[in-house]
Amino acid sequence: MSAKRARPSILVVHGPNLNLLGTREPEIYGRTSLAEIDARLAALGRELGLDISSLQSNNEGEIVTVIQQARGRHAGLLINPAAYTHTSVAIRDAILALEVPVVEIHLSNIHKREEFRRRSVLADVVAEQVLGFGPESYTLGLRALAGLLQAS
Ligand code: DQA
Repeated sequence: MSAKRARPSILVVHGPNLNLLGTREPEIYGRTSLAEIDARLAALGRELGLDISSLQSNNEGEIVTVIQQARGRHAGLLINPAAYTHTSVAIRDAILALEVPVVEIHLSNIHKREEFRRRSVLADVVAEQVLGFGPESYTLGLRALAGLLQAS
């Protein structure tokens, strides 16, 4: 009997305040909860043959640690760094050390918002960004990541 091949594992990281999705500024972020987004990602992962592990943190250091721990464990990272997108050199450095494809996600189109949101300090170190599609940014991003993994 042949050994069952392990499914590639994808880490999904949701940054600060995304635990409030569904009730937080719904006119910008919509009414879909984080649990619903994670359920959609898990279902899409099954379809694409990927294992999905999701976590949310309001803490920059915790996000850095989780990205460090992803080395050698996960084949790719899908991350919505939320407000840390615009400020976190620490998360940028952790991504640089990770050496697996990373897709940056935003529910809103950060380029159409306040000036301070238009710059991502991660933009040039991630493989791609998907933004502005609401919760669909995550599912489109997971499909994009699956494509990158297949191509590598
Ligand atoms: C966000 C955009 C960020 O500017 C903001 O701080 C967030 C969410 C988005 O998904 O649109 O918390 O990353």
